[in-house]
Amino acid sequence: MNKKIEYKQYVVDSQLRYFKPHATKIEKSFAEEIYYSLNQNSKFINPKFFYDKKGSELFESICLVPEYYPTRTEISILKKLKHVLPSYLDENINLVELGSGASVKTRLILDIFTKLQPKTEYFPIDISEILTESSEQLLKDYDTLHITGIIDTYEGGLEFLKSYDDKKNLILFLGSSFGNFTPDDGKLFLEKIFFTMKSDDLFLIGLDLVKDKNILESAYDDSQGVTAKFNLNVLSRINDELDADFDINNFLHYSIYNENAQRIEMNLKSLVSQSVIIGKSNLSLNLDKGELIHTEYSHKYRVSQIKKLLSDVGFEFKNMWLDDEKHFSLTLVSKN
Ligand code: AVI
Repeated sequence: MNKKIEYKQYVVDSQLRYFKPHATKIEKSFAEEIYYSLNQNSKFINPKFFYDKKGSELFESICLVPEYYPTRTEISILKKLKHVLPSYLDENINLVELGSGASVKTRLILDIFTKLQPKTEYFPIDISEILTESSEQLLKDYDTLHITGIIDTYEGGLEFLKSYDDKKNLILFLGSSFGNFTPDDGKLFLEKIFFTMKSDDLFLIGLDLVKDKNILESAYDDSQGVTAKFNLNVLSRINDELDADFDINNFLHYSIYNENAQRIEMNLKSLVSQSVIIGKSNLSLNLDKGELIHTEYSHKYRVSQIKKLLSDVGFEFKNMWLDDEKHFSLTLVSKN
């Protein structure tokens, strides 16, 4: 595997190893991307930078707040798959997960896999170090599990796995993380998945559905303020890792649902006119009072749009499952 040139391998034991790009590569691209994205007229920060250790923990807390329905709803659908998913699988299939995070939902799929085969190989791909802890937790509960984690972007992880082995894969992309892409980037990303897949691979994608604006806006501005902390944490991360001096108290979490674009738009609003230095990006930033730094889109879909999106890329539709309130969807597709 020639990827060893770019990745460092950490072998924990015979059932767990993970790969990580060399640290300098990560830091350089973070500093460069921040330089670019905060040096625009419309400033933005790519949402992938939310997920340092603290950010990943805050995201796990968001998943538990009452207003944030996507996680518990998707879990309720996954529980129902116990009886239907096996008919699409066989005894020799790897599990790949994009954005595995704390791997909570993965357990529902692993329950199915470990019943179906004597040894299960799981490849979580996540940009956050949380992957190592969650993998160790999983191994406590699944004796026959072997984990190869890739701590990198989705694209990096997919590229890494491309030449890995010939076994069939089920690729999971849960939690409506796809909704965080811009439509153009999302299309490119689905194409990337499609072209990474072997002919009999399967892809299971969880997508959030269009619904009442009030439900959506409360889900992204919860009363305990966890989402606000999650959003603001990206500035603390830039302070810590890129030698910046953002004063977090000078920013406000500002999130709205744009009905036309069918998406939550999350921003950090500058409460004062201010200057910020970002040392490692070599950037001196001026922000006006009221100016927004865009941090995340979270797109919502209609069932017909999901089917079209996937078929436009070339995927073959296998099945779709919704919860009773039609708040969330899981769609299974194959390459052929
Ligand atoms: C990870 N992603 C799918 C979450 C979402 O719902 O778009 C991120 C999030 N942002 C605020 N709350 C949750």
